Amino acid sequence: MYEYHVPVMLEEVMEWLKPMKGENFIDGTFGGGGYSRAIAKACYPGKVVGFDLDPLAHKQAEKLKNEEGIDNIEVIHDNFSKIMMQPERESWLDQITYFDGLVLDLGLSSAQLVDRERGFSFQMDSPLDMGFGGEERSVETTEGIVNTWSEKEIERILREYGEEPLAKKIAKTIVAKRAEGRITTTGQLLDILAQAVPARFQHGQKHFATRTFQALRIATNDELGSLKKALKDSLTRLKPGGRIVVVSYHSLEDRIVKQFFRDEAIDCICPPTFPVCSCDHRASLKVLTKKPVLPTEGEIEENPRARSAKLRAAIKL
Ligand SMILES: C[S@@+](CC[C@H](N)C(=O)[O-])C[C@H]1O[C@@H](n2cnc3c(N)ncnc32)[C@H](O)[C@@H]1O
Repeated sequence: MYEYHVPVMLEEVMEWLKPMKGENFIDGTFGGGGYSRAIAKACYPGKVVGFDLDPLAHKQAEKLKNEEGIDNIEVIHDNFSKIMMQPERESWLDQITYFDGLVLDLGLSSAQLVDRERGFSFQMDSPLDMGFGGEERSVETTEGIVNTWSEKEIERILREYGEEPLAKKIAKTIVAKRAEGRITTTGQLLDILAQAVPARFQHGQKHFATRTFQALRIATNDELGSLKKALKDSLTRLKPGGRIVVVSYHSLEDRIVKQFFRDEAIDCICPPTFPVCSCDHRASLKVLTKKPVLPTEGEIEENPRARSAKLRAAIKL
């Protein structure tokens, strides 16, 4: 069942999402369907609407139907930032007004990581394309960013999305090298990084290309923008009592979730310098996890990909 992707923190996700018979859920990151499968079984005859930008998700959903008879899952090939109703789609997403829960398991599936055609991994030489759903679904192509964005913009994304301390030097080297010829493969980019990153930083625990690849992937897919939009719109799509569960894998995403939960759990969000409240904001969530829930040692040992996972959950008021 899990040859596509081993679900991370599945038990904990089910514990916080608490699917009950007859309830309906949105799984914004269907992937291999590990979460959807468990939710669909628990909520039947309720429904699960899955989103994934990756066309492979459809195949996984078909497999669940054909091999296990699970027929209460529908997968939409789109960005999870589109959870608002769009009736022309004629899907369950538009027939069900309010859902009982939303789950997001951010980032990449294991299958995407080994898919060399899409350049997600620097372990293999492949075309420079980190779009989750191929070029037509991305905001920008990775190749486009590397070859056309200004040095300042490249430096900004490396710093903001990759938290790369050598952002300035790497951006400068990329721009100098692209003048010699278009950068089209992960191998070329890796060579450029090897020139930009001093030798003493090339043998740390983390591969020296990790931060740059992460930053480019986030920018290619506007991952943080999508996350913010989905969280905001979930407040409209969930019933009172509906649960939001988010599993994230790096601090940028976790910070967005934490901040969103914090802001939505209080009435006034005016800056502390304001003498009286002028925001009219009202709390719409109760945070269920004061601190992020982490995977067990046992899970990390069995599935190293779980290592950096953090789960946060909240309930709609
Ligand atoms: C970590 S995997 C999810 C695995 C899944 N929970 C499971 O158990 O199999 C993340 C999936 O989310 C998809 N994804 C990431 N960002 C997305 C977005 N903004 N919209 C739709 N799908 C997205 C990726 O294509 C990938 O398949």
